[in-house]
Amino acid sequence: MKKIPIWIDTDTGVDDSLALLCACGIEEFDLAGVSAVAGNTTIDNAFRNARDVLSLAGREDVKVFKGADRPLVKPLRTAPHVHGENGLGGAEIPRSKAPVETMNAYDALYEKARELNGELTVCAVGPLTNIAITIAKHPDIVDYIKILNIMGGAAIGGNVTPCAEFNIFVDPHGAENVFKSGIPVNMFGLDVTLKAFLNDDDIKEIISYSNPASRLFEDSNHLMYKAQENKKFAGLCEHDACPVIYTAHPEWFTGQKCGIYVETQGMISQGKTVTDLWTDYKYEDRHCQAFLDVDREKFVSLIKKIYRSY
Ligand code: RIB
Ligand code: CA
Repeated sequence: MKKIPIWIDTDTGVDDSLALLCACGIEEFDLAGVSAVAGNTTIDNAFRNARDVLSLAGREDVKVFKGADRPLVKPLRTAPHVHGENGLGGAEIPRSKAPVETMNAYDALYEKARELNGELTVCAVGPLTNIAITIAKHPDIVDYIKILNIMGGAAIGGNVTPCAEFNIFVDPHGAENVFKSGIPVNMFGLDVTLKAFLNDDDIKEIISYSNPASRLFEDSNHLMYKAQENKKFAGLCEHDACPVIYTAHPEWFTGQKCGIYVETQGMISQGKTVTDLWTDYKYEDRHCQAFLDVDREKFVSLIKKIYRSY
């Protein structure tokens, strides 16, 4: 079976770590590289956490590259109330012994995209700063990324403001540059990720596996669980796993073609992903898809299978 080459760009926080374990555990994937970006936590934490989670998954062969330590324009806003001071909800896991890569994320991603000659799928599950900088530094990368699957945004709603989702809100300027770049973007926003949740029984079952991955899951999700419980979500939303699992199982997700652009100037609406999904006005350039639904049963069953495998 021809493997799907993927690259993960992550602000290695709690749900990011589950997404990385999925990227390592899904047999259809050839995990070609990982880049770290500041967002949920500082760049140093995100970089270390990505390395350590890959090591826990037995994948110290996958190279991790350090990217942006702040958004393009705004000051960095992290989320320690959800991802803890260390980015993994306070969970402590063994340090990776892999060599520390010194190449920057932008050159590394560009080199891999060129090497794979247009076959690389990129899953970006943090602020889009690294992707924006890579496009600015290597404009022809738009010809070498097959598809950019992102966790971010929302056609309706928000989780940092009533109309902005965290990843886009942290770096709206970076996100706008990415959406305007012409790279085809599949947006897995809150419209679908709030439906991609683990309920209490699912959580108990994963914890019952009692292996290093399930212990990381248990030890890292306390704050995330509390944050979502207070907002009366149906369960623990695995936002970042959506673009990753979609890449292997697109048939489990429902999306619609649309145009998507980002509000960068608004005093109230900054960070909103503005789509023409439901308006009679349609953007001229509609090279994106916004995803709206997921087969939760299949989504959760794959996550459990992956956790059992560790
Ligand atoms: O809004 C959810 C997103 O913000 C996820 O990527 C989570 O990891 C945080 O970065
Ligand atoms: Ca993330």
